[in-house]
Amino acid sequence: MSFNLRNRSLLSLRHHSERDLHYLLDLSRDLKRAKYSGVQRRSLAGKNIALIFEKTSTRTRCAFEVAAFDEGAHVTYIDPTSSQIGHKESMKDTARVLGRMYDAIEYRGSGQENVEILAEYSGVPVFNGLTNEFHPTQMLADVLTMTEHSTKPVHEISYAYVGDGRNNMANSLLLVGAKLGMDVRIGAPRELWPLDELVEQCQEFAAESGARITVTDDPQVAVAGVDFIHTDVWVSMGEPVESWGERIDLLLPFQVNPALMAAAGNPRVKFMHCLPAFHNAETVVGAQIAEAYPALANGIEVTEDVFESPANLAFEQAENRMHTIKAVLVAALG
Ligand code: CP
Ligand code: NVA
Repeated sequence: MSFNLRNRSLLSLRHHSERDLHYLLDLSRDLKRAKYSGVQRRSLAGKNIALIFEKTSTRTRCAFEVAAFDEGAHVTYIDPTSSQIGHKESMKDTARVLGRMYDAIEYRGSGQENVEILAEYSGVPVFNGLTNEFHPTQMLADVLTMTEHSTKPVHEISYAYVGDGRNNMANSLLLVGAKLGMDVRIGAPRELWPLDELVEQCQEFAAESGARITVTDDPQVAVAGVDFIHTDVWVSMGEPVESWGERIDLLLPFQVNPALMAAAGNPRVKFMHCLPAFHNAETVVGAQIAEAYPALANGIEVTEDVFESPANLAFEQAENRMHTIKAVLVAALG
């Protein structure tokens, strides 16, 4: 199994070994401590990184920019509207242009094939900052956060993801837990289960790592005894706004509220969310949903009382995006 992460892309996590992932997590911890204690090394001085965002972002963009600046690299932010990508120039041609100017490329957008093409034709490492299918940099932050809030070894930690079970977060939480030997539960209605092909692949990883994988349509079964309960938005970026009605009907039993937190049967259970979260009606979308569905005025995928409780680790996750993305950059380019 390969270990050298120099010049390695991070496209899905499928091609990273358990050892690769532990190395990135260890490096994240080192870099986090170095920043806290003021002994950063600027190990990316002279490097240039292109950040392509075809979808909007707060955390991922800021995490890449701060991580790069902290280590002395320069970034170019390419926003969803002001480049030629897609409208006038293919991903393959874009890859061949950017690969001649930059030392690495981050891509956030729709299809997974876009990061695959960038990696194939740019000749430089490519990092997936979220596609419809996967969100691998988020996984490093989520596992780092879970290890920071548990005294157990990684492979003894259990977590449930409840909600849209076939979006980028569900797919990636399934994959990372399978790779790291964890107890992973996906709780979702059958219509929104992860694709069989992914579950089968994760079962194969689990056979090697000792991971326990459960996919269930019973939210209580999903969360029974777990250490962490994750959720995510019910309608992801790029999905039609008309999906909301059907999604709400399907996912209401999977809302993370005090009753579902209690169903874990673990007084120490923690709540996790990649953010942004609809936990009240104080956003444009949250207000629109609250108007149409008054029962959701206190939160959609998570209720306000859970979100504002001490069990919520979402802001720890948000900070860890930066330390873990820094580790990905330093491992590949430092
Ligand atoms: N969690 C996450 O990827 O957040 P952004 O969409 O703000 O980047
Ligand atoms: N599933 C969400 C994740 C956002 C970070 C989306 O793709 O919109």
